[in-house]
Amino acid sequence: MPVSFLDLKRQHEEVGGEVRAAFGRVLAGGTYILGREVEAFEREWARFCGAAAAAGVANGTDALALALVASGAVRPGRRDEVITAPLTAGYTALAIRNAGGIPSFADVNPETYTLDPRGLERALTRRTRAVVPVHLYGRMADMEAVCDFAERRGLFVVEDAAQAHGARLGGRRAGAWGHAAAFSFYPTKNLGAYGDGGAVTSNDSRLIERVKDLRQGGHPSALGGRVAGRNSRLDELQAAALRVKLRRLDAWNRRRRQLAGTYRRLLSRGGGRLVLPSTGAGAGSHVFHLYVVRHPERERLRAHLAARGIETLIHYPAPLHLQTLFRRRGQHSLPAAEHLTHEILSLPLYPQLLDEELRAVADGILAFENA
Ligand SMILES: Cc1ncc(COP(=O)(O)O)c(C=O)c1O
Repeated sequence: MPVSFLDLKRQHEEVGGEVRAAFGRVLAGGTYILGREVEAFEREWARFCGAAAAAGVANGTDALALALVASGAVRPGRRDEVITAPLTAGYTALAIRNAGGIPSFADVNPETYTLDPRGLERALTRRTRAVVPVHLYGRMADMEAVCDFAERRGLFVVEDAAQAHGARLGGRRAGAWGHAAAFSFYPTKNLGAYGDGGAVTSNDSRLIERVKDLRQGGHPSALGGRVAGRNSRLDELQAAALRVKLRRLDAWNRRRRQLAGTYRRLLSRGGGRLVLPSTGAGAGSHVFHLYVVRHPERERLRAHLAARGIETLIHYPAPLHLQTLFRRRGQHSLPAAEHLTHEILSLPLYPQLLDEELRAVADGILAFENA
C-alpha cells in the first residue's frame, strides 16, 4: 500500500467548510492585513500557550529574528552570539543571522535529540547573549536546565517552538518558558496556515509591543527607534484559518500521540537495530510533529520502503555547524548531532494518517528487519 509522507488535502477536507466561511467573512470585510482576525488570533494563541501576549508575523524565521531583537538579546552591530542546537531546520540559525547575531552551536542529547544543557558551558564565550533551545520534532528541550543555566549566566532564552505547538512540559506549554518564543505556521506544522505565517509569544507584554512595532519597520512608530525592523505581517486570511484550526489542535495532537503509540507497539517487535523515539526525560511533552526513528542502515531501509511506495524524509541531513554558511573557526566537533544525521529517518505521521497506512509502514520496516 503506497503511503504519502503527508497529505494536507485530508486536513482541508476536515476543516474546509469552516475555513471557507471564515475566508468569506474576511473577503467581504475589506481589511486584509493586521486586522480583527489577526488581533483575535493573537489573543487566542497567547491564551492557548499560557503566555501573556502574542504577535503575528509573516513566518517562523522572522518570528525568531524579531523575538531576538525585541528582547534585546541581539543588539544592532554588536556581533552578539546566540547558542543553539546543530540538529534543526537551517531557519533557526538563519534567523539568528538575520537578527544580526552569530549562531554558535552546542551538541544535542544523544537520546532526546534536543539541546544538551551539559554542552552549554563549552559553547559560552564573552560575546554570548542568548540561548535558543529547539523543541525538535515536537519534543520540548530540557527547559528547566536550559533556563537554569541561562539565569546563572545572565542570558536570554528564546524558544524555537516552530515544531511544538501545544507541547507541555511541567504544566507549562511551549511558548511560555523563555523570555520569548517563536512559532511557525508553515502549512505542514501541527498548526499550519494556507501559506506562510508565524508568531512570537512572551510573558512580557512590552516585548510583544516591540515586536508589533518592528514587524512594520517602515512605520513611523518604528522609524523613531534605534533598531531596524522589517516588513513581516500576518494577513487576515491566514489568521482566520488559524483560528478555525486552533480549535482542533489539542485533538490533532492527541491523534498524533496515539499514532506514535501504535508505531511503538508495532515496531518494538523489530530487530535490535531500529531505535524508536526515547521514552526518557521530556517524552511526555511530545506532540510528534515528526516521528523520527534511527537505523544504522538508513539508506537501505529508506530504499526498501520507497520500493513499497512508502515516502520517508530526513530531518536533517547535515548538522548546521558543518554548513558553509555557519561554519566557524575553532568550532569543536559535536559528535551526537554528527552521528544522528547519518541514522535518522522521518516516517509518515499526521492526524489524518489512516491506521492501515501506519500498519503498512510498520510492516515494511519489520519485513526489512526480519529479512
Ligand atoms: C525548528 C524550526 N525553526 C524555524 C522554522 C522556520 O519557520 P518558517 O518556515 O515559517 O520561516 C522552522 C520551519 O521551517 C522550523 O522547523
